[in-house]
Amino acid sequence: MRLTESLFTLDKLKPLLDKKDSDSNTIQIETKKKQQTKPIAVLDIGTSKICCMIAIIDLKTNTPVEIIGQAHHASDGIRNGNVIDLKAVEYAVGSVIQTAENMARSRMNGQDLQNIFVNMPALYTKPYHFSVDVQISGQQITERDIDSAINQARHVASPKEESIIHVIPASYSVDRQTGIKVPIGMFGHHMGVDISTITASKPALQNFTTAVTANHLDVFGFCASPYASGLSCLVEDEKNLGCTVIDMGAGTSQIAVFFEGALIYTGAIPVGGQHVTNDIARGLTTSVTDAERLKILYGSTTNIGHGDHDTIDVTAVGEDDSVNTKKVPRSLLTGIIQPRIEETFELIRAKLNDEGLSQVAGRRVVLTGGASQLLGIQDLAKHVLDKQVRLGKPSVIKGLAESTGGPVFATALGMLQYAAEYVDHQATTRPASRIANLHLPDNILRKAASWFKENW
Ligand SMILES: Nc1ncnc2c1ncn2[C@@H]1O[C@H](COP(=O)(O)OP(=O)(O)OP(=O)(O)O)[C@@H](O)[C@H]1O
Ligand SMILES: [Mg+2]
Repeated sequence: MRLTESLFTLDKLKPLLDKKDSDSNTIQIETKKKQQTKPIAVLDIGTSKICCMIAIIDLKTNTPVEIIGQAHHASDGIRNGNVIDLKAVEYAVGSVIQTAENMARSRMNGQDLQNIFVNMPALYTKPYHFSVDVQISGQQITERDIDSAINQARHVASPKEESIIHVIPASYSVDRQTGIKVPIGMFGHHMGVDISTITASKPALQNFTTAVTANHLDVFGFCASPYASGLSCLVEDEKNLGCTVIDMGAGTSQIAVFFEGALIYTGAIPVGGQHVTNDIARGLTTSVTDAERLKILYGSTTNIGHGDHDTIDVTAVGEDDSVNTKKVPRSLLTGIIQPRIEETFELIRAKLNDEGLSQVAGRRVVLTGGASQLLGIQDLAKHVLDKQVRLGKPSVIKGLAESTGGPVFATALGMLQYAAEYVDHQATTRPASRIANLHLPDNILRKAASWFKENW
């Protein structure tokens, strides 16, 4: 299904949440008085690294205010964003969560984490967009009518092999009046809701869920990775005017398109920084480790900035002493990197065209993710995509360590923002001493869905 219209974002949901807060829902208000902040945890399972962050969120502003636990280490069991060894992923996930939780423990009042938000690589996501009509019969529109629209959307957009991870009501119309932002309380006969959903493949959800539940935590919800990267890297104007985020990771390049303040698309191609490294290893007959080092130290997509006679030392594969190095022109390294990155952007351009998004995707592209740090990448993206391109760094949250800042952590930091919007007052911790609680993804998604409905 093609996406053609503006959709909904957290920003557009906010007025509705605020409205509900101002209703005479005394129970909720009383709960709010009691609890002003709470810890939440997010997990970004990437091809090259796994990262866990725990932050205190302010329940009044629904924003993360301080990071109290953070850890990351090399990923295991993932190739190009795919799980290839679930046990290895379970172990890596357990270890990174444990480290972050230990760091956060003194700030968690003796509680253990109960659940965690988990990323979903956009290789496994699909967007759907459609309109739902609800009969109002001249009555006042209530939250129930909106629930009913959401439920209809959930049934329409849920193929058997996929589960919904994001339900995004975009815009509303009442009778013939379009462009309504908050329909609750209005009178009419018909309410139309433009709804977008992002679904994810069930096996992908099951694999990540198993990696989490094996470590005695529940999944609170999933967030499409590039959506999160967009939340941490884009400014409001970019989301409103139309902007494409490209999160260039190790095994994937993931895309999120925002238009009129709303997420309208997530997708990905299975090519990332690791492919560049492998090309270098093959092209210069060196080890993958050395190729990675050469890429980070001397890698560039252009020969501008270094002389024709610049050379780099390359150790032949299998040789590990610096005596057995050969001198190679630096331009040879650029000659390996440049075509791969150019091809990556060409694939992204083709994908946006195929999805009918080239116009709505806006004139602006923001590059983030670890592989976006390659020298010269911005100019190459500008040239191939024919758009304005900037490098996106995630906004900094108090307590963020230097080692967990920068584009590598765009997804994790964006997930904190996403989680802060959605977690509201549900329990995220429990008294220390864990009880294993195995949930099938559907249960978790149902739980998240019913939470969504209850809090809307
Ligand atoms: N300074 C740098 N210059 C070029 N590439 C870099 C630099 N630093 C990191 N990278 C590359 O970034 C990639 C890792 O990025 P990131 O951590 O965003 O990926 P990931 O989230 O693990 O993977 P994915 O999202 O694809 O599953 C690696 O391929 C690494 O070589
Ligand atoms: Mg990533």
